[in-house]
Amino acid sequence: MSQGTTTKTAPQSYFVKSFGCQMNVYDGERMAELLGDKGMQAAASADEADLVVLNTCHIREKAAEKVYSDIGRIAKRAGKDGGAKPMIAVAGCVAQAEGAEIVRRTKDVDIVVGPQAYHNLPELVAKAARGESALDTDMPAASKFSALPGRKKQAPSAFLTVQEGCDKFCTYCVVPYTRGAEISRPRGDLIDEAKALVDAGAKEITLLGQNVNAWTGEDEAGREQGLDGLIRALDRVEGLARIRYTTSHPNDMTQGLIDAHGDVAKLMPYLHLPVQSGSDPILKAMNRSHAAESYLAIIERVRAARPDIAISGDFIVGFPGESDEDFEATLDIVRATSYAQAFSFKYSPRPGTPAAEMDDTFVPAEIADDRLQRLQALLNEQQQAFNQASVGKTTTLLLERNGKKPGQKIGKSPWLQSVHVETDAPIGSLVEVELVSAGPNSLGGVIIAESGGS
Ligand code: SAH
Ligand code: SF4
Ligand code: F3S
Repeated sequence: MSQGTTTKTAPQSYFVKSFGCQMNVYDGERMAELLGDKGMQAAASADEADLVVLNTCHIREKAAEKVYSDIGRIAKRAGKDGGAKPMIAVAGCVAQAEGAEIVRRTKDVDIVVGPQAYHNLPELVAKAARGESALDTDMPAASKFSALPGRKKQAPSAFLTVQEGCDKFCTYCVVPYTRGAEISRPRGDLIDEAKALVDAGAKEITLLGQNVNAWTGEDEAGREQGLDGLIRALDRVEGLARIRYTTSHPNDMTQGLIDAHGDVAKLMPYLHLPVQSGSDPILKAMNRSHAAESYLAIIERVRAARPDIAISGDFIVGFPGESDEDFEATLDIVRATSYAQAFSFKYSPRPGTPAAEMDDTFVPAEIADDRLQRLQALLNEQQQAFNQASVGKTTTLLLERNGKKPGQKIGKSPWLQSVHVETDAPIGSLVEVELVSAGPNSLGGVIIAESGGS
């Protein structure tokens, strides 16, 4: 690959840039830890690195195409010593989906590594430095996790991938092809990793998976348990104050997990439960295997367990065959659910997925754009209303970063809202505040007490 460039030297510094979902962010952190473990230095930006890892996302066309413009931009700059361009690795879901096609399309890429193979990155870097082909998109049965070094990540809020892959095969989605079949990491490994994160300063851990609530494992007695069992085990980890999880599928929303929202104090009152559409025929065509009614019934049970829970969701508009009536049904389910936050997307046909073959029923772009605008207006209204209803509440914030103004910090409420507050308490503290103002994307709070960070 990349023949014709100046002879390469082994890169001394790296920069990992992640796109897409939180699982990719987690993978990016682990790749950085792996390269650091091999003695490479973290560069402050892609411009200063000898090796740039683009950890890519394939979910929509725009996301996937962005990679190529990034590669072009990075390849244009000369290396620090004025010599060769930096080494470029394409990792993540585009790497998995396109594989060798990437190096056919651009000669600037030195390494292609899939999401299940990145523990081999140091070896691939060495190969590329020798001018050899460095492509690994294997999906081995053996877990990459055991081949990775221990966690070093230091942050008040940390990600922990507990489950990977997807067996759901929604007809629009590339994830089952880029991430492979559903697997759950063993409970013991997860508790160890959680403890390492807490020892490094994490107060909050977000459990991640493409279908996180499909996680299964064994308890100490060897009995099979679901995600609620893992959550209850993590509840006992000293020093951990908050637990979250994302993303869930309605079909794996067990009563055990719903009950955990009622009685596990560390489990935060927030649930990201995508529905995608409110129309049953469209849900069927999407192969979502739930209906609008069954989704609403789950929301009702979740709210019975935890009345103040913030519900968040994902939506796709303009799926092939979506009529005005189908779209109205989506607006109806949004009204019936009342979301605290949501992400909505215009359908993007993806190569190799069944929905991409339904091209005789594609919705014209102007109609899809109009629907997206209307849906987003409603969702924004609901988000604003949710934030407004929080004003006057007394709650706890986990301080995560500095704000723009001197003395200002930004923390997260239990409902995952960003709250600005003036305080000298250090990042990572838990502080009691009264919420005093609300905008669409953030709130303002005033300190009542510093609760000491436990
Ligand atoms: N596993 C999660 C998230 C998958 S990807 C789930 O099942 O919900 C995140 C979101 O991207 C999806 O929820 C969906 O709303 C959106 N998405 C996936 N494929 C898409 C496509 N082809 N076009 C537009 N949006 C898509
Ligand atoms: Fe994609 Fe559906 Fe799997 Fe989510 S559940 S990752 S949308 S196939
Ligand atoms: Fe994108 Fe892959 Fe995540 S396609 S959304 S990075 S699983």
